[in-house]
Amino acid sequence: MLAPVGAHTALADLEREIAVPGGGPDRLRLVAPPFVPEVRLHLAEDAILWWARMEAAAGRSLPPPYWASVWAGGQALARHLLDHPELAAGRRVLDLAAGSGLVAIAAALAGADRVVANDIDPYAVAAVTVNARANRVDVAATGDDLLDATVPTDLLLAGDVLYEAALAERVLPFLQRAADRGVEVLVGDPDRGHLPPDRLEVVASYPVPTTEPSVDSPVRRVQVLRPR
Ligand SMILES: C[S@@+](CC[C@H](N)C(=O)[O-])C[C@H]1O[C@@H](n2cnc3c(N)ncnc32)[C@H](O)[C@@H]1O
Repeated sequence: MLAPVGAHTALADLEREIAVPGGGPDRLRLVAPPFVPEVRLHLAEDAILWWARMEAAAGRSLPPPYWASVWAGGQALARHLLDHPELAAGRRVLDLAAGSGLVAIAAALAGADRVVANDIDPYAVAAVTVNARANRVDVAATGDDLLDATVPTDLLLAGDVLYEAALAERVLPFLQRAADRGVEVLVGDPDRGHLPPDRLEVVASYPVPTTEPSVDSPVRRVQVLRPR
């Protein structure tokens, strides 16, 4: 059982991590994702080592730091937005399961009117805040679970969120309900085995260089999809 971490604690932890000088694979570094070099993110060279060090310092379990890596699905979606800024320009955007905030930041750089990044991990909420700051864009970060809610937005973005069966079972109806209300929905997905064969159609496909943990191939084929 994870002890709950408050949003303020997580933000203070990340701000301290960023401020303290020093390098090494268990530290955060401000780097450009390989497929989205316009954006810079505070990422761990080795997220597992960062996690272990932070858990040892905190003396308790912490959620896996997905936000400390860039994911292939998010990179493809962010690339797609920057190459097609008209998708986000002037619109209200929600980035679901935002992790580092890469997709949200790309939407802001593409000219979105208002960007909300949502993730249930308080460290991801904090990462969005420090990463938006590093890229000098406005992104509001929220930590509520929105999957049973109706969120007013024009564009709903979901990068690499279909990575677990139980989560995909909640996310796919959430995306479909939004699409049925007229929200434009875009998903970035490298097919982790939970992509429904018939409910989404491919908009674009990208060869994404990946730095994800536990991935052997240096390039993954990633699709950007939308509900049919
Ligand atoms: C693989 S990461 C992808 C992060 C980012 N979208 C990207 O592509 O780089 C998946 C993220 O989903 C978040 N997540 C899991 N369940 C969630 C939920 N119910 N609502 C919002 N975020 C969730 C995790 O905390 C994690 O940060």
